[in-house]
Amino acid sequence: MSPKVLLILLNVLLIIHLRKLLSEEIKPVVAPVAAATTAPVVAATTAVTTAMEAPSKRSKLAEATNILDTILKNHDPKLRPGIGGKPTVVSVEVYVNSLGPISILDMEYTIDLMFYQTWYDERLRYNNTFESLVLNHDMVHELWIPDTFFKNSRKAVEHEITLPNQMVRIYKDGRVLYTIRMTIDARCSLHMFKFPMDSHSCPLSFSSFSYSMNDMIYKWQDNFSLEMNEKNTWKLLQFDLTAVSNKSEIKTTPAGDFVVMTFFFNVSRRFGYVALHNYVPSFVTTMMSWVSFWIERDSAPARTSLGITSVLTMTTLGTFSRKNFPRVSYITALDFYITVCFVFCFCALLEFAVLNFLTYNSKKAHASPKLRHPPISGARSCALARARARQQEEVFMCEVVTEGSSGEDRVCYSLQYLPSRQAPEVPRGRFSRCLKAFRKYFCMVPECEACTWQKGRLRIHLYRLDNYSRVVFPVAFFFFNVVYWLVCLNM
Ligand SMILES: *[C@@H]1O[C@H](CO)[C@@H](O)[C@H](O)[C@H]1NC(C)=O
Ligand SMILES: *[C@@H]1O[C@H](CO)[C@@H](O)[C@H](O)[C@H]1NC(C)=O
Ligand SMILES: *[C@@H]1O[C@H](CO)[C@@H](O)[C@H](O)[C@H]1NC(C)=O
Repeated sequence: MSPKVLLILLNVLLIIHLRKLLSEEIKPVVAPVAAATTAPVVAATTAVTTAMEAPSKRSKLAEATNILDTILKNHDPKLRPGIGGKPTVVSVEVYVNSLGPISILDMEYTIDLMFYQTWYDERLRYNNTFESLVLNHDMVHELWIPDTFFKNSRKAVEHEITLPNQMVRIYKDGRVLYTIRMTIDARCSLHMFKFPMDSHSCPLSFSSFSYSMNDMIYKWQDNFSLEMNEKNTWKLLQFDLTAVSNKSEIKTTPAGDFVVMTFFFNVSRRFGYVALHNYVPSFVTTMMSWVSFWIERDSAPARTSLGITSVLTMTTLGTFSRKNFPRVSYITALDFYITVCFVFCFCALLEFAVLNFLTYNSKKAHASPKLRHPPISGARSCALARARARQQEEVFMCEVVTEGSSGEDRVCYSLQYLPSRQAPEVPRGRFSRCLKAFRKYFCMVPECEACTWQKGRLRIHLYRLDNYSRVVFPVAFFFFNVVYWLVCLNM
């Protein structure tokens, strides 16, 4: 019995002790609740202490609200200020955040700008200590704002992050400043005749959409001049900004006469990129095609492949230069240069074709000469044979073989090429006469030069075509370059 009673007593003691402990632990948990209930009182007391300096602030807030209420109560945003009277004058100021890039392909450029418009609205005048009231985008809809639009914009974006980038400031005297940030893709017609020495004038023109000049006129803000520097033009990349100009004009439309204000951004192309990717390769390829003139006449594979390679390279360069380029129908300065280089390369290839054809022909004839006369030796008999040949009015080729060092010891062969009697396949008449004349003036074997029978006549040594080309091609190309660059850089 006693142990049971003892146990019960112990339990009761434990419970009492626990309750005591618990109540102590709970206290701090409860405390914040109590504090919360007392907090307003504390706040109220602090408010009371600060209230001594606050009344002006509070009344300012009330005043501002009051001003807004009164000016907006009588304000009709649908009607322009001073309606029925003088036109509203809107002063414009522009700050360019960034200009560029210019898209050649689409013929447009991008401009990111802050657009400031200032005008007077007598309805918004107030009499207070506030010099101005700054309002954010929410209030814009409650005021009259000029309906300016950009005439040559293709796409314009208003910025909305973090809030719409718009602002209105109302001054005591009724002056209103409205600011908006925009990114505009504006059209700019590019005339590429002089590409890559081209320069362009990209406009940005704006005007009112609905108010003609009887209702609204624009003017530039006093003392405002558009400032452009490295910081906001680096995006032009290939272009350099050379100048900014402006124009204000009156455009007549069926809806009335509108004041149109325009900025012009004059840009000129930086030459380096195109020079490196087009001019230098064309120039080098053209010179490469001349290597052919220093290669032996007989190594046809080497010369042909060199010629064809340079022609193909020029074709590729021509195509490459028109990539990322608007499909304009006219040829540009670069096209012209590449075309001329192409023609030079083609002529170099053609030179070999001509040379090969003629020397091959003459070689064939050479290989089976129809000897009319037996070999003769000595200068005198040679001259006799020549005289005889001339009498017979036949076309002769004279081959002189020099033996030893003395020039006198010569053997002359009188060779007849295609005498008309023996070549019935050659049509008679004009063509054969032409052929005859051709043979008279053009010398196709190296040795005919030593003969004197053509003396006094113009002689073109076709077998020496390479020697001529070595001089003619570089000189012609040099002159072309001089003229081209003189014209292009002074255009
Ligand atoms: C502006 O208010 C002050 C008093 O607050 C008054 O004396 C003054 O005449 C007012 N001016 C105009 C232009 O109403
Ligand atoms: C324009 O500049 C002149 C002189 O620099 C100055 O007197 C005038 O107040 C300025 N105007 C404005 C609207 O800032
Ligand atoms: C507009 O151009 C005139 C000269 O033509 C210049 O005096 C004026 O400062 C320019 N205005 C702006 C806003 O650039």
